[in-house]
This record gives sequence, C-alpha cells and structure tokens, in this order.
Amino acid sequence: MSLPYALTAELTHRCPLRCPYCSNPRELERRDNELPTDVWLRVLEEAAGLGVVQLHLTGGEPLLRADIELLIERARSLGLFVNLITSGIGLTEARLRRLAEAGVDSLQLSLQAATPSLSDHIAGFQAFDRKRQAAALIRAAGLPLNMNVVLHRQNIGELEAIVELCLSWGASRLELANTQYYGWALANRESLMPTKEQLKAAEASFDDLKKRIGKQMELIWVIPDYYAELPKPCMGGWGRISLTVSPSGKVLPCPAASSIKALTFNSVRDRSLASIWSESVALNAFRGTDWMPEPCRSCDRRFEDFGGCRCQAYLLTGDARQTDPVCRQSPHHSLISDAVARVNEAATSVEAPPSYVYRG
Ligand code: SF4
Ligand code: FES
Repeated sequence: MSLPYALTAELTHRCPLRCPYCSNPRELERRDNELPTDVWLRVLEEAAGLGVVQLHLTGGEPLLRADIELLIERARSLGLFVNLITSGIGLTEARLRRLAEAGVDSLQLSLQAATPSLSDHIAGFQAFDRKRQAAALIRAAGLPLNMNVVLHRQNIGELEAIVELCLSWGASRLELANTQYYGWALANRESLMPTKEQLKAAEASFDDLKKRIGKQMELIWVIPDYYAELPKPCMGGWGRISLTVSPSGKVLPCPAASSIKALTFNSVRDRSLASIWSESVALNAFRGTDWMPEPCRSCDRRFEDFGGCRCQAYLLTGDARQTDPVCRQSPHHSLISDAVARVNEAATSVEAPPSYVYRG
C-alpha cells in the first residue's frame, strides 16, 4: 500500500456562491456537524506523520472558518505546503495579512467567466467585483495568484477573454477545468455540457493561447471526460496518493465519494488517520486490481487508469464497482454517449444563459 502525499481538508460546505457545476454532494454537511479546531489540528499532525506534504484547504468557502489561520500555522510548522482554495468572498486586506503571517504558500481563486454579468449569473451571487479586489490584494501581498475557471457551455466560448483577464489580474497559473458531473453538477448536466463544436474550437484556442502566452502564465487544461474515449486515472487511483477529510470528519479517497451510499466512511473523530488509511473497508474497496470486473480485469490499461472513476461509475450506474462508463469498452458507455448526443442535438443556440438549478 502506498502512502498519501496530499490532503484535501474540506473545512466547511457552507458557501456564499451557488455555482451550478458544484461537485460537492447534493446533501451538504451541516455547520453544527463541522469538526472543531482541535480535531483539525490533530488531523494535520497525523497527516504529516503519514507522509503528507501538501495541504489543500477548501470547502465550500474555507474563509468562513475563523480558525483557518491557526490551521495554516500548524500545517506550516509541520512542514506542509499550504494551498488555500477560495472564491475570494470575505478576503479583506486584514484577513490576507493574517493568512500571510500564518504562512500560507499559495491561494487559488475561482472565477466563473470573463464578464461581470455572466460571472455573477453563473455564481448565483454578485461576486465578480469582489474577486477582482481579492486578486489585487493577493498580488499586493506578494503571494502567487493561482486561478481556476470551471468550463462549460456558457463560458467555454470566451476562453481568450478569460485568459486575458487572468493575465491582467497578475495570475501566475490558470487551471481551465472542464466540468466534471459529480454532486450538484449532475443536476445541471444538460445545461452545462458544451457541444462538440464548442469543444473543438476551445481546444484549438487553448493551443494557440499556450504558445502565445509562453511563460507569462502557466495554463492547465483539465479534459472533459464525457468527450474522451478512455477514462482518466481519477485521483491517481482510489486510496493511492491522496485523501480528503470532509467537514464532519469522514475520510474519503476523493471529495465526491461520500455520495456512494454502499460504502461507510470512517471518521477522524473515532480513529486515527493512519489506521483509517490502512484498514478502512471503504478505502480498501477499490485498491489494486482484484475488485475489477471485465473488461478492466483483462485490460492492459488497468494499471494506468485504475478502471477510471468510481464515483462516476456509481452516479451513472448505481454500482461503484462497474467500469467507468466513459470507457468505450464499458457495457454502460451508452449512458455517456447518449447524454452527449442529446446535448449536441438540443443545444443549437448557446446565446441566452440557461436557467440553472441552483442549490437552496
Ligand atoms: Fe481502463 Fe477498464 Fe477501460 Fe481498460 S477497460 S481502458 S482498464 S476503464
Ligand atoms: Fe471519486 Fe473519481 S471522483 S473516484
């Protein structure tokens, strides 16, 4: 069994934004069930003891937790690299100073689109101006600004404008992540999925932009797996290199896994991280290759993609043991190809923003 090098700490599911592509579960964990500070501090120590070197503080909106500076300070004293993932809402100059003093290494700011009106429509909240201010504060504090934009049918056509905007805000890295249809995003799949034509144009534009921008800003492209023929090695394999702790303390192989109702995930409230990592039935459920059904069991790619994404298999087939339906060899591949065909037939016009299904 390998050891994890990255921990995603979901400090809270509370969030001021209501993005329709949210990959957090449909049923969010409640505030009164969130882990208290002392348990998070223990989790950080146990993670470092397990070999974790990277900490991603996320949510929801992690800035809603008043103890975040304490957690950053402890993580840094344990030698962890600390990345804070935020919508930027609540990031004042004073808060940023405290985060910097605590030792945060990097901030990743999300953005929804290149223009305020579309950006705010997607976020379900007037967030654009505050994001612009947050970006300026981060740069003024001398911290690297990483940005993340989730791509979908409404914003994928403005790739160039998004890249130019992030450059003008001083970003050193921009992740362009095509939507993954987990959690809440699945409810909006038909409104979010880009057409084949849009995707082709965006891929060409991405290649041009990458050449043009060179080293000014690192550009990352996260593939749209509904248009792929082979699955991604999701999370680098189930319980192989990283782990997630949910706001209430559940230890998960990935943020989406709590949706898998057939599995019971142990909590850091009851057991140490190390014992959960090595002994938990849920984390062991899809390690290695013995659990695989055909066609994965006899496929040469099984050591590269680990049979794809367990959460996607569960969400689409109701059984996490199935081959990821993204794979062209999966007996359930039509669940993907039919959804893609439906979207490409229906989405003749992408002019007007669709009515998303928002949380709440
Ligand atoms: Fe991957 Fe399984 Fe498809 Fe082979 S059959 S490519 S191992 S998902
Ligand atoms: Fe959970 Fe892919 S998102 S295994």
